[in-house]
Amino acid sequence: MKRSDRLARLVRAAANNGIVIPAFNVFYLPLIKPICEALIAHNTLGMVEVSRIELRKFEVPSISAAAEEYRKHANLRITALHLDHIPVIDEDGLEVDWHPLIEEGIRSGYDSVMIDASRLPFEDNVAVTAEVVRMAHAEGVLVEAELGSVLGHEAGPLPPYEELFESKAGFTDPEQAREFVRRTNVDWLSVSVGSVHGAIAGATKNQAKVEARLDIERIRQLRDATGVPLVLHGGSGIRLEYVREAIANGIAKINIATDIRQPYDRIIAEGGTVQEGQKVVFDTVSDIIVNRYSIKGSVSRLERLVVYE
Ligand code: 13P
Repeated sequence: MKRSDRLARLVRAAANNGIVIPAFNVFYLPLIKPICEALIAHNTLGMVEVSRIELRKFEVPSISAAAEEYRKHANLRITALHLDHIPVIDEDGLEVDWHPLIEEGIRSGYDSVMIDASRLPFEDNVAVTAEVVRMAHAEGVLVEAELGSVLGHEAGPLPPYEELFESKAGFTDPEQAREFVRRTNVDWLSVSVGSVHGAIAGATKNQAKVEARLDIERIRQLRDATGVPLVLHGGSGIRLEYVREAIANGIAKINIATDIRQPYDRIIAEGGTVQEGQKVVFDTVSDIIVNRYSIKGSVSRLERLVVYE
């Protein structure tokens, strides 16, 4: 069995049974330990993830260094490693030499990689994503892509949230998504349905996030059109009633960054130790798993749902 087969089945079982797989962004290497420990303590399937943003704008030295640190704390039955947002055009509008980054992820043992060509025209997004799918699948690695635009990582201010939500500007179109998945063979798809990323630029990165809503009907349409597990970015700060509905309607993975980074940053800024920062990350991840997503014990539930051939 390829290394991704088990994970792919668990992800599908999650999508079909209203169970979510949380994926926690690592801005600093010491965050990996408490994230893994909390997932293991609660027997909950979840991911550690690193994106190019954490390499360029925070303190993760490299994609392979994160993989090495992850292996010290991982439990391969419970945790998985994902390479988040490798953009083709980045949040500052710059072209990225993405090939070596994706290759490093595949080579250093990531279970899943994300190519983000969402700032490109549709046809180019299809072409780049299909190329990454060929590269990754040859090595048994899953691929996530993005269609539509999830704002928030850009340096400028966001348009007023309610206007954004009402206009549905940049929301993923179900018919385009159907075609995208058919032509790329991507394993899971990040969709734009109302969430926004937490800010990462300058002073805004310490501010409270907007309380996002989600278009549940759009999520349902996307699930039915694509047939693949859907991914929700910008998972911090979304109103809970929307999160629960989204999970019940096809969102299989939620990315969470701001909710764990800000408490850690606060501890360190106040002169706390790395150990104290790790404790707050453990507690926050535990709270998200147990109270927010109600997925304590999800590994055993998912394993029971998966029928191995
Ligand atoms: P938040 O910072 O809103 O949790 O978003 C995380 C994310 O989507 C990373 O890809």
